[in-house]
Amino acid sequence: MAVTNYVPLLVIVSCLLMLTSSSHGHYDKEHIPLFVFGDSLFDPGNNNYINTTPDFQANYWPYGVSYFHPASGRFSDGRILSDFIAEYAGLPLIPTYLDPQNDDFLYGANFASGGAGALVESNAGFVVDLKTQLEYFGDLEKQFRRNLGDAKAEQLLSNAVYMFGCGGNDYLSSVGNNDSILYPYTHEQYVRMVIGNLTDVIKGIYEKGGRKIAFATIPLLACWPSVRAGRVGNTCNEELDLISSLHNQELTKKLQELENHLDGFMYSKFDLANEVNKRMRNPSKYGFKVGDSACCGTGPFRGIDSCGGKREVKEFELCDNISDYLFFDSNHCTEVAIRQYAELFWDGDSDVTTPYNLKAFFQGELTTTSRMQQL
Ligand SMILES: *[C@@H]1O[C@H](CO)[C@@H](O)[C@H](O)[C@H]1NC(C)=O
Ligand SMILES: *[C@@H]1O[C@H](CO)[C@@H](O)[C@H](O)[C@H]1NC(C)=O
Ligand SMILES: *[C@@H]1O[C@H](CO)[C@@H](O)[C@H](O)[C@H]1NC(C)=O
Repeated sequence: MAVTNYVPLLVIVSCLLMLTSSSHGHYDKEHIPLFVFGDSLFDPGNNNYINTTPDFQANYWPYGVSYFHPASGRFSDGRILSDFIAEYAGLPLIPTYLDPQNDDFLYGANFASGGAGALVESNAGFVVDLKTQLEYFGDLEKQFRRNLGDAKAEQLLSNAVYMFGCGGNDYLSSVGNNDSILYPYTHEQYVRMVIGNLTDVIKGIYEKGGRKIAFATIPLLACWPSVRAGRVGNTCNEELDLISSLHNQELTKKLQELENHLDGFMYSKFDLANEVNKRMRNPSKYGFKVGDSACCGTGPFRGIDSCGGKREVKEFELCDNISDYLFFDSNHCTEVAIRQYAELFWDGDSDVTTPYNLKAFFQGELTTTSRMQQL
């Protein structure tokens, strides 16, 4: 008797091991997935798979040099915000949605595209605009419903965290450029249009079941290396700060309004704008030697966007010690800086990340029904 009892026991144990170790096709409700949307702040390499130009790609040396070999397509020397957030949340690296090798998105998906704006006009034809990113998310929602059934798919989508960084390109590609879509709108009209389109995408995610939405404010771009390099006397473009501040104010109002009107909607807003500005003004306080000039590029402040030598301008310099710099290229921060932002987005207090930080979204006891069921 004792001998025959052994076999079924072993079979049961190995089945349990298989269930717990395989994620494919199995939704494990202990994990809160992360879905990511936006621009180069979050793009893990989606632009490697679209028809575009090296201006909108970063899949060549020295991009990634501090962490990814070969370069992944991230616009930094290493990891980006969503990589650190996934790590803190106990998730694997979130898969790049357009990479044909990826088909398992149970831990989330990253749809972000370098150069994308909230307006379809921003860098149209070279990027995956935000509306299209939402459409891809809709395809994934259908895939979850097919593979998991409606109940599990809905649980996955309502537990998930949705992370956004978008808007900067709508202003960078327009302010001070008479051919741009900003002309002849006033700042107020233009910002209303950008926020209107962002809101449409947030509502789209909400309609598909998303509840926890995290935003990074857009940086105040006036004195960024790329902006100064393009101006006579290398001055800052104060108009950019005015319009990006207005954007961030309107975004805050809109998120509060959505929280009041949409049942169960929760948001986390990280003040990236202020954190970048503090480091530009006082780099040494945060461990940097250089806060105004990029590490990789050429021209004034290495602000000409030539890092890697594959864009219009071929010559570029690379600094000796990347971690001394706040900016890696003319528009993007170094991994050291991005890790600092990620830590503040994750568990910064309410004057940096409000009203919830991401740690609360992933680990906190939030009082929504879906979360209560899980606890
Ligand atoms: C844009 O147009 C206005 C009015 O025609 C002109 O005064 C201004 O200098 C132009 N700005 C640029 C950047 O071309
Ligand atoms: C979205 O942007 C387009 C321009 O791309 C604009 O015509 C439209 O009014 C905007 N939508 C909202 C809701 O503001
Ligand atoms: C680079 O800079 C960092 C911070 O200033 C310093 O800790 C590190 O030793 C430097 N590395 C090299 C190779 O000089």
